[in-house]
Amino acid sequence: MTNGRAAARVRSAVVEDAPLILKLIQQGFAPAYLPYTLFQAPESVVYLRELIAAGAAQSQHELYCLNQGDEIVGFYDAVCRDTAFFLNYISVSPGVQGTGLGQILLDHFEMTAVSLDKARAELDVFASNHRACEWYLAQRYAIQSCQWVMQVEIVDWKAASDTAIEIAEPVLHRGQIEEARRGFSKIECVSGSSSLTVGLIAGHTCKLLGFSGLSQMQAVASVCRQFRNQRQILIVPSAGKPPADWPLASVEKIWQMTKTLQDSDRLR
Ligand SMILES: CC(C)(COP(=O)(O)OP(=O)(O)OC[C@H]1O[C@@H](n2cnc3c(N)ncnc32)[C@H](O)[C@@H]1OP(=O)(O)O)[C@@H](O)C(=O)NCCC(=O)NCCS
Repeated sequence: MTNGRAAARVRSAVVEDAPLILKLIQQGFAPAYLPYTLFQAPESVVYLRELIAAGAAQSQHELYCLNQGDEIVGFYDAVCRDTAFFLNYISVSPGVQGTGLGQILLDHFEMTAVSLDKARAELDVFASNHRACEWYLAQRYAIQSCQWVMQVEIVDWKAASDTAIEIAEPVLHRGQIEEARRGFSKIECVSGSSSLTVGLIAGHTCKLLGFSGLSQMQAVASVCRQFRNQRQILIVPSAGKPPADWPLASVEKIWQMTKTLQDSDRLR
């Protein structure tokens, strides 16, 4: 394969890039990882457009495309955190992977981090994505911690039904309208001292985004009870390994990696 680095150029994304960025995400993360993301919804192109149009000052997201001539062959999306720059997504077109284009994007990401005065670059990567894990380790990223993410089948969990929170109909309705428009939405409900934040994705999936005053089991049971016979999958991020008796469709370990940006990175 010829060296893909020739004539490659990184530039800020513009609103018109949204469909191709979505395609790069879908190509890069299907089939195993896409179902964990909101980009499984075709309507998420609307979200991408909004994100790019809002600009980094408002959204905290920096999106860059990699061009070879007129063709977009890669992109990354990074988010500003307090002292770190977090790599949210990076993807190179399948036909030109392994030709050095990912390296150009990663170098650009780190230089942008430095220009934003961030001390560290951070990212999450699925542990089963061996090629990406090895690539980051070779680029001097270090594993800092791990977490889990699982796809729980939405079935009725009788054991916890008496502690379940119910989502009010108007709240649910508003969430569904927003989900239909841009592929996902976030709904919040409070009951006494308990609260639950749930993501709706693509008309068939939920994501547990937060809970308080409830155990993880009770939060999962609440969502399952609310959406049984309506949705199939609940995505649950978790600090610990999933309990053995949960009805899981799949589970993935995630490495949280970090790299301290040295003077050499600052001078690159
Ligand atoms: C991870 C990814 C962005 C790397 O981009 P890339 O353009 O392939 O990376 P580079 O060509 O700069 O570097 C590739 C290196 O990894 C290896 N590699 C990665 N993907 C490869 C591929 N498809 N074919 C051959 N080698 C590959 C090579 O050994 C190469 O090492 P070398 O520099 O010692 O030769 C790209 O593979 C991709 O888009 N993957 C799908 C999405 C993804 O997994 N993103 C990361 C999730 S956090």
